[in-house]
Amino acid sequence: MNEKTIINADNAYHKAEQRAEAYFKSLFGQHADQSYVQALIKDLELWKPQHVQRRSFISTLTNKKQLDDYKFIQSLKLTGKLDPYLKRSISYIFMRDMGHALDSPATQRRIGSIVGRLKEQLTRKQAGQEDMFSMARLYRMAEKNGIESTFIWVTEKLNMVTENIPAGMDAEEAQRKLIKIIAGLVMQAIEEMGDDIDPEEKSAKLEQAIRLGYAYGLTYPFIDDLLDSNVLSAEEKNRYSEMIRITLVTGVVPPLGKWTGENGKHMRFIHSELKAAFELIHESLPAEDWEAFLEQAYVFYQSQEVERVKDLRNETYTNEELYIPVILKSSASRLIVRSIIDASEDEGIDQRTFYYGIYNQLADDFTDMADDRQGGRVTPYTYYLEHYEKRKDLINPFELYWTVIANFIHNVYDSDPQAREVILSRAINSLKRFKAKKGEQKYEQVMGLLFSGIPALQETVDDLVQHATDVDFFDKLIRDRMIRNLRQDREERDVFVTQAKKVREDLNATLPISQSEENVLLDESIMEAANYSLGSTGKRLRPIITWFMGVEEYGLDKKAIQPLLKSLEYMHTASLIYDDLPAQDNADFRRGNPTLHRTYTTATAELSGLYLTQQAVAEQASLQSFDAKSVLQLIHYSANVTADMCRGQAMDLQTKGEHLTLEQLNEMCFYKTGLGFEAALMMPAILAGANESEKHALKQFARHAGIAFQIKDDLLDVEGDPSELGKSPFRDEKNNNSTFVSVLGIEAAKKEMWEHYCLAMETLQVLKHNNPFLKHVLNYFVHRGY
Ligand code: IPE
Ligand code: IPE
Ligand code: MG
Ligand code: MG
Ligand code: MG
Repeated sequence: MNEKTIINADNAYHKAEQRAEAYFKSLFGQHADQSYVQALIKDLELWKPQHVQRRSFISTLTNKKQLDDYKFIQSLKLTGKLDPYLKRSISYIFMRDMGHALDSPATQRRIGSIVGRLKEQLTRKQAGQEDMFSMARLYRMAEKNGIESTFIWVTEKLNMVTENIPAGMDAEEAQRKLIKIIAGLVMQAIEEMGDDIDPEEKSAKLEQAIRLGYAYGLTYPFIDDLLDSNVLSAEEKNRYSEMIRITLVTGVVPPLGKWTGENGKHMRFIHSELKAAFELIHESLPAEDWEAFLEQAYVFYQSQEVERVKDLRNETYTNEELYIPVILKSSASRLIVRSIIDASEDEGIDQRTFYYGIYNQLADDFTDMADDRQGGRVTPYTYYLEHYEKRKDLINPFELYWTVIANFIHNVYDSDPQAREVILSRAINSLKRFKAKKGEQKYEQVMGLLFSGIPALQETVDDLVQHATDVDFFDKLIRDRMIRNLRQDREERDVFVTQAKKVREDLNATLPISQSEENVLLDESIMEAANYSLGSTGKRLRPIITWFMGVEEYGLDKKAIQPLLKSLEYMHTASLIYDDLPAQDNADFRRGNPTLHRTYTTATAELSGLYLTQQAVAEQASLQSFDAKSVLQLIHYSANVTADMCRGQAMDLQTKGEHLTLEQLNEMCFYKTGLGFEAALMMPAILAGANESEKHALKQFARHAGIAFQIKDDLLDVEGDPSELGKSPFRDEKNNNSTFVSVLGIEAAKKEMWEHYCLAMETLQVLKHNNPFLKHVLNYFVHRGY
């Protein structure tokens, strides 16, 4: 092979293998002599009094899963169980993710201070109302730490990844894993930095952790999961895997080359994103650590590879062949994290991190047993279930799992009672969750099969799974909550998008103006020109918003508000016709076609604009199903809005080439753009007779959402894809317009957009609507590509 290798991969793997072999041998010995069983039973008995009490009303209550998270936390607080709950959870994370032992006073102090802070946050009054993972909340947290740009960067990346996940893979799962890894790195970075770090250095470290977390996290969906899935053919998998090997041994990502077929598009995206990620890690590592990183990564890769090519039907794998790669991959994935965050060297941490891997892996594989078996994947469990009848020499993986636990408590953590408390709670919790999820019958079947060799331990464990309480973990709550949120969000968005599409299609069918008795005197060419401008590619956002507000929020009749929807689009289209005129933005393209004055004449454009605004009034005046007073109020409001929008547009035109203040910019954009959205919200509110405080909140929302929309428009002018945009790019620069981009620059414009996003989101909390569409409208505003 002519590749220029910079690490000795075989050597590195061999060395790691030896270490794993020694670990496995020790576990094997403990398993064989069964000494762990008695030790564990004793441990469980010591653990029991804290967890099995006479059932009180409250403890039955806290077991109920229907309880929402906030109530659950409240009930823990009421019964004095919140502290131990949080302590157990944070201690576990310290052990698992940071390789700490619990018996050092310094670690105890850290855990104590985190528990204190968390408790304060979780029990605050607002905690019940706010969504823990809302973008607005996260952005505010980023702001506090001065890392908005990185937050925006990572948000854009996560969205891009979700959009480019091949069908056949789970987009939410990919997102969750990435977020988990980023959060893990951030947590580690915080732990490494200590309390009295200066704020600027802290921001820099946090930003680094987020970027590296994303970079490393990408390997989960785009390497592990992709190779595990059926998206690629066997041949494609081998080709892809070979590319990764070359990358790790040479330190350079080879070109993708030609990748034909359905997966080409995805592979090009994946390749370029992973390449950037790999280079980011390279740049951020001190030169002397680069090879160590590559070696570690290679061990990870190679152990996965050994696993991947295994065949569940093969009857000849030895215990070593089964467990050593498992020990290697699970520990390497954790050790890599340490190697990329530039953590301080610590032999103890390194050892414990190494030992931890298999514990977690065996717990995960236990949970996924049925899925893995169905997918034909080899794990210690699936292989055992498939072959144990013929292969009496195979180690029962569940027994090995308990061996690992006993080894942890007594050898790794020196029989520390705190470690015992945490680890056993975790183990019992896993089984309780398994039982709750799969049902009693399945649970008993699995236990019967896997526990039959050690009835004494089985009996103790069974009893505890049934009766033990206070074994919940905060990280599990977060995990469940996050999955629920991501899925719910996706489902809601799908419903919203489908409905919005339908409204848009229906509207497109009724928008064109045709000759009628009313407009019989109208010049044919003006009507034609107006229809040309209405086009079919407009997003129709304003009427869509009105539809959702009117129909879904206020329960107005769909048919009855049709004229209102039309009037909003007529007014908006008229504003675009004027905006594009030579005297204003002098634009050549609009909605994918040459602008109206380009196709017809400026005079025709002016007349069509005027005609459309008046047609809007005519539509409003035909809102017959509503009381006349409300309709008059609506027309009055509408006339005022039009006047104010003209004012915004005039400000825009008069300030070309000037350097506006942020305040002036915001004001201008509220007038020229925000008001259009305000009208879309207010008009149905007027028809529905909404109260003043509701209207006030809607106006606030519209102001900020509208400004966010305009900032995105300014950004798209410089960053958007012209083929999607339907208008010529760089119009603002050519016109010397003062926009958010020209005044603030791209980075700061994005921050300002997110600021308004948050302000708009925050007003939604005041509105307390049950329907989530405004949230999705707003999300669309800032994420849209055209
Ligand atoms: C463009 O509005 C004018 C601005 C307020 C920036 P839209 O982006 O809603 O344009 P269409 O209606 O989809 O063409
Ligand atoms: C226009 O803003 C605002 C109006 C409502 C007319 P822009 O001038 O930035 O809109 P585009 O980019 O031409 O659509
Ligand atoms: Mg303009
Ligand atoms: Mg314009
Ligand atoms: Mg623009």
